[in-house]
Amino acid sequence: TNKVFIPEVFFTNDCLTGEDVVKSTRVLGDLDGVFQDKEAYGKMNKEQAVYHVSSYLPVLENTPGGLFMGITTLYPGKVGQEYFMTKGHFHSNSDRAEFYWGVEGEGFLILMDERRNVWAERMFPGSLHYIPGKVAHRVANTGYQKLVFSACWPSDAGHDYATIADAGFARRLVDVNGVPTLV
Ligand code: F6R
Ligand code: ZN
Repeated sequence: TNKVFIPEVFFTNDCLTGEDVVKSTRVLGDLDGVFQDKEAYGKMNKEQAVYHVSSYLPVLENTPGGLFMGITTLYPGKVGQEYFMTKGHFHSNSDRAEFYWGVEGEGFLILMDERRNVWAERMFPGSLHYIPGKVAHRVANTGYQKLVFSACWPSDAGHDYATIADAGFARRLVDVNGVPTLV
């Protein structure tokens, strides 16, 4: 039996070979424009890793009816008072939904609908989050250890990063006297 190790998960099914696992890393330099405090961002080491994603893509991108799964490891840290977070995106096929679930560490899933209403759900080991279609999603690590979460999304969802890169989320998760607060 093939055993493929991607962060904290062992796949033991024969059809899951490591060849379909795509790994990517986002360093601080890849997140230019994402955080509010430009001065704090400017002083930080741009080579510092913020998160890694291992994605298991058993079918080709855009295949209708398939599923992808990924594991994201998001490091603890802040830029100014704002917690380290993922870029965040809508899906290109905007009505495609997704599950996220917490594996390790603590944080928040930050969600924004098309009317720019923003809300957050606490993530912890075992937490389960259904992200409906047309809802942008990003995760912030509010803890002192790495935050690991898994995701499962349709293989024809695609990723629209441009909308968030242009307009951001309407609220940010920041440390206000030690309390994660949406502002
Ligand atoms: C896939 C998905 C996750 C994220 C990952 C990194 O649809 O939502 O696998 O891709 O957590 O976040 P982004 O893609 O926003 O940089
Ligand atoms: Zn997604």
